[in-house]
Amino acid sequence: MTENHTTVEPLIPGDGVDPDAPAMPGRPQRGDVLELQIESLAYGGEGVARLGDGGYVVFVAGAITGDRVRAVVHKRKRSYAHARTLEVLEPGPERIAPVADHPGVPWQVLPYERQLEIKRAQVDEALRRIGRLEGFELEEIVPAVQPWRYRNKLEYSFGEDERGGLVCGFHAPAGGNRVLAMSDCMLATEVGNLARELALAWCREQGLAAWERGRGRGAGVEAERRQRTGPGPDGRARLRNLVVREGRRTDRLQIRIVTTEGELDAGELAGHLSAELGERLSGVLWTRSRSLAETTAGGDTELVWGEAELPERLGDLDLRISAEAFFQTNTEMAELLYGVAGEFAALEGWERVYDLYSGIGTIALSLASRAGELWGIELVPEAVADAIAGARRNEISNAHFFAGDTRLALRELVERAGRPDVVVVDPPRAGLSKKVVHRIIEASPKRIVYVSCNPTTLAPNAAELVEAGWELRRVRPVDMFPQTHHIECVALLERPAA
Ligand SMILES: C[S@@+](CC[C@H](N)C(=O)[O-])C[C@H]1O[C@@H](n2cnc3c(N)ncnc32)[C@H](O)[C@@H]1O
Repeated sequence: MTENHTTVEPLIPGDGVDPDAPAMPGRPQRGDVLELQIESLAYGGEGVARLGDGGYVVFVAGAITGDRVRAVVHKRKRSYAHARTLEVLEPGPERIAPVADHPGVPWQVLPYERQLEIKRAQVDEALRRIGRLEGFELEEIVPAVQPWRYRNKLEYSFGEDERGGLVCGFHAPAGGNRVLAMSDCMLATEVGNLARELALAWCREQGLAAWERGRGRGAGVEAERRQRTGPGPDGRARLRNLVVREGRRTDRLQIRIVTTEGELDAGELAGHLSAELGERLSGVLWTRSRSLAETTAGGDTELVWGEAELPERLGDLDLRISAEAFFQTNTEMAELLYGVAGEFAALEGWERVYDLYSGIGTIALSLASRAGELWGIELVPEAVADAIAGARRNEISNAHFFAGDTRLALRELVERAGRPDVVVVDPPRAGLSKKVVHRIIEASPKRIVYVSCNPTTLAPNAAELVEAGWELRRVRPVDMFPQTHHIECVALLERPAA
């Protein structure tokens, strides 16, 4: 680890700043351009600057500790604002030259060792400050196997450049609707990039247009929905997103195009992709979405070509992943993450294990040979079907999966399967609701292994479990997302022996 130059103070936007504080005279307006000195990095990755006597905080995207920047305010609250860096006037002492020329990798200007150090410190801070927890062992962070080209799933957006040309890339940072053209996505493999370029070239050749993001407001929700998510004036579908998913261990690709309603010769797109990508192409899917939200989830998805599920391997497991199902986006690191979960679960072979928020069942399946029986609960039915099929394909007979909302299904599972010895939870960023925490307390497992992608929600959940009698023993961060502020960690809570 390098010497600690940066103050690590993971202030959380909206936390630690009083929303009812009296309005500060001279606080910035939306659109104001300010010169700011960055003091520290907030949880969430933005730089922290203070105005006036220090009471008014500005969270600055694209800035790191020690930078002096010119930044434009794009969101303003009573006692804090969010701004986007326009220019780095004086770089901080740790700033290094960027590798990628696209958004989505804001921490690439920090040496990788520092990224790791800051992430570990932010986990510690969240647990101590938000959860008021202590006495746990914060272990060394597991560094990423690959600092670049590690993602197995990229969701690109279609948009227009300044001259109205179709582009496919990432959104401009900090709240903009603009999509920036992209040539080499440094989070994807070369073949993943090729897939995007091939799809984009075909869409350009067809003269297809991007959907109207963020326009047409005020026309009433239904009118707006029809206007923006319906076909273009020529009856053809408008382009929203391109989702490229890769089986990292199988070398196969799944490509899903997301559009508005309307016509699209998706079969021809698939033919074009298959001619260029050959055996590497596993499947092509087309989703028509009527959502006004910027999401690739939901809508009506049809298989256009090939297989509906992407084949992938994880450790010894032979898996198939549905387009709708969650799968850890860093395959190599998922293997290590599940290794940590397995180590913390410390199974002897007889235990009843619950895998809550089980996705396609990867945690349960990877623990199956070391447990008596495993029971998974997952909200997305397609993911549950993948998990059940995965158990069969891998000849695992002691793992059972159910579709349901953990909040409602957990009590029923306890009645049906009996109380768990070990509970593994891997919830989305929002963490566990109070009700789920209470249901886990009721179920009374000896050991809880909490896989978290957000230490600021892990902290209050862990605090509640500690309050109820469990002890927070160990926490090990795992870096699944180099060059970004995202933090994954595994925590072990145990009930002390009676
Ligand atoms: C972070 S992912 C973890 C999935 C899996 N453990 C893995 O490692 O691939 C969280 C999962 O929780 C599921 N989910 C979200 N809300 C849920 C709920 N209320 N009840 C059950 N599952 C839920 C999501 O669909 C997603 O598959």
